[in-house]
Amino acid sequence: MSLINLKDLLNNAKQNKYAVGAFNITNLASIDYIVEAAKEQQSPIILQVAEIHLRYFALEDIAPAIISAAKKVDIPICVNLDHGLSFPTIIRAIRAGFTSVMYDGSVHPIDENIQTTKEIVKIAKSVGVSVEGEIGSIGGGESVGESLKEGGVANKELFTNVEEAVRFYNETGIDALAVAIGNVHGFYKVEPELDFDRLARIRDAVPLPLVLHGGSGISDDDFKKAISLGICKINFYTQASVAAMNEVKKYLKEHPDANSFPDLIAKGMEGFKATVKERLEVFGSKGMCAPEKTLCFFCEDRTCGFADPRFKPSAQTVSYSNLIEEISREVISNIKHGDL
Ligand code: 13P
Repeated sequence: MSLINLKDLLNNAKQNKYAVGAFNITNLASIDYIVEAAKEQQSPIILQVAEIHLRYFALEDIAPAIISAAKKVDIPICVNLDHGLSFPTIIRAIRAGFTSVMYDGSVHPIDENIQTTKEIVKIAKSVGVSVEGEIGSIGGGESVGESLKEGGVANKELFTNVEEAVRFYNETGIDALAVAIGNVHGFYKVEPELDFDRLARIRDAVPLPLVLHGGSGISDDDFKKAISLGICKINFYTQASVAAMNEVKKYLKEHPDANSFPDLIAKGMEGFKATVKERLEVFGSKGMCAPEKTLCFFCEDRTCGFADPRFKPSAQTVSYSNLIEEISREVISNIKHGDL
């Protein structure tokens, strides 16, 4: 069993100064390729589904496929709802067996963002599901269709304010905080310029694992610097999708008479997988699940892995037997009548 919630996973990353890659699932085929990449790199990983990508499949249909793939491998996998925009979607994700949810209330006034995030934390935590929140606002948009050709530019006015981050942390009880420090989703119109000074101030003021969205287009050196300043989770998608498309284009050019669609998909996914493997190395998570490391899942009794002193005190393996039924029961009993 290798499902883990975000809190446990990122605590290990924070203590050992690496970041866990979070990759978006946008089709069924991508699940196995991403899991294989993590397995080959002996790295923990986060498989996530963004609410905006629910136009490609239903949450309830993709969740069992992700959970089933995760359970087959001996590496810790967190299943996260990325940019959950509404209360009902968050509850659907928890009921479907996600081990972590992100509520993105960043477009709302801070009081409203805090209030909703707080309610979600109460419900999610009661069933061992972690919550990622966002303060400040990360620009750009999640890659959807052909919509992102233009590229985004970070808006300094929407960068995470340190005092607001402290308030958000104190009042909500979240497990991880997504920051806006010059990062944007999708392509960058101009070279990204991350505000590392701001990141260091947030890290000093908020004792939580920090999350960097909009990974595509950020340089390896900047990733490493960001990790050294408290980034423990990196969201990455657009560039892997582009790598998949490039493989498809190359294959069609070399094989103009190709007529097997499944083989074409496989070619594309090889490109996606290669990008994921490369990123896991840059993020420093490669090898973290090796037997001698802190996240080894190979021994049943956890004599390595979670029993490792470096992983204590807050880490706890979450045991998700009969995951969906158990969570559904708990969630329903926690929702006040009329919440939905
Ligand atoms: P990119 O697509 O820019 O890599 O960002 C992914 C992301 O942040 C998902 O939340």
